[in-house]
Amino acid sequence: MVVTPGSDGMPPHEGWSSRTAFILAAIGSAVGLGNLVRFPAEAAANGGGAFVLFYIFCILLIGLPVLLSETLIGRFGQSSATISVRRMAEASKASRYWEGLAGMGVLGSFMILAFYCVIGGWVLYYIGLFGADLFASGVTGGALTGMSAEGIAAIFPALQENGLMMTGLDIAFVAITLYFVARGVAGGIEIVAVWLMPAFFILLLGITIYGAFNGAFTEAVVYLFTTDFSKLTGSVMLAAVGQAFFSLSLGMAGMMTYGSYVSREVNLAGTSAIVAASDTAVALIAGLCVFPIVLAAGLSTEGGLGLMFNTLPHAFQSMPGGSIIGLLFFIMVGFAALTSSVALMEVPTAWAREKFNTPRALTAIVIAGLAMALGAASAYSFSTLADFHPLGLIPLFAGETVFETLDSVTAKLFMPIGAILTSIFVGWIAERRLIDSQTGLTGGMHQFWRFLVRWLCPLVLSLILIVGIFPSVAGG
Ligand code: PHE
Repeated sequence: MVVTPGSDGMPPHEGWSSRTAFILAAIGSAVGLGNLVRFPAEAAANGGGAFVLFYIFCILLIGLPVLLSETLIGRFGQSSATISVRRMAEASKASRYWEGLAGMGVLGSFMILAFYCVIGGWVLYYIGLFGADLFASGVTGGALTGMSAEGIAAIFPALQENGLMMTGLDIAFVAITLYFVARGVAGGIEIVAVWLMPAFFILLLGITIYGAFNGAFTEAVVYLFTTDFSKLTGSVMLAAVGQAFFSLSLGMAGMMTYGSYVSREVNLAGTSAIVAASDTAVALIAGLCVFPIVLAAGLSTEGGLGLMFNTLPHAFQSMPGGSIIGLLFFIMVGFAALTSSVALMEVPTAWAREKFNTPRALTAIVIAGLAMALGAASAYSFSTLADFHPLGLIPLFAGETVFETLDSVTAKLFMPIGAILTSIFVGWIAERRLIDSQTGLTGGMHQFWRFLVRWLCPLVLSLILIVGIFPSVAGG
């Protein structure tokens, strides 16, 4: 391959083949396990409608302005996240050390990748489980026929006990992710988004409509949208902001990296709004997809990972056509997880390629290998390594396994710090002439965006950071 150097001596930067490809890839990054697993569980646990309303508020006033800021930095710099920030800092005569904010995001993306693919591996397992079930019992019956409630309840714990199996599945999921990342932006990353996101939406709508006819839809609507403001405590509000940020993939240099492949003509405010709206719509529909099925089976809507990997399989047992719906459901979750893991792998790959001047495929292979190793440690943290607490000496992370530490370090520290620095950088440090012509916003909207980025975002995100570190501050 002949590489012609760019005008500044760097190799020419890759790019999306169209605006639609970028939008689908960014939605693919945003829509993931966070929408399907975490959002319904948190909404249910935290006061239904009040949480949902507040969450939408967070997306609009804090998430969206930061999303626009991140894509803007990426498109300005046309490089991996750290170099993009450095270029904007240099052009604004600010310290190049601002690039550290993106460096943290690069590391954070890698850490999320490592445990995210372990969960992706579980999804593969359930695809296999329901696939085999469908093969054995046919399309018409419920799922997992003949299995006792205890038998079904034992599936997930048994999987978590089996470190070797989980490692194997994790490796498989990382390898699938690698396949697309290694093929490049237009040749791989975009292909997976362009094909899987529409398929994801069809499956999500199809299963939700199925649940509306066969499940307890009205109860689910009541459950999810009955507004109980008394449950909206300080800590619940902060959980909503954190969830909004994770769900939009912010603070992790991801949207900077994807933004760097966008052409100059694209209106970033418009695309950011589409991405945020789609991500929020998916979270809400996911609630209306999961709860009718769970409530129809009379099961508890216990939160956390158990909702998807324990309660739902049980619920599919009594549904008509449960095994095929179960299979389609987990295929849908797999699609959403894959488009997010691709984004998570692309961030460190883009960074390392530029840093070490190595070819994309080789760089991605090394990153994938490292993610597999850390993934194996996460997989075994449910069994053999259950008593290994990597950051046990730090009170905030005491008692956490490898899997939990990766999640909590990124959620409590990296995400808020990355997002605070991004909003301060764009709102206060970068020169206005570099920013103002790029947002795609005019007049009052532009002023409002500037106000949010300069004031509201840093303030609210600082609160999240403080409460994350000192949970007692928030109370209840
Ligand atoms: N937004 C993704 C989800 O909701 C997770 C993610 C976080 C992806 C950060 C990329 C970067 O599952």
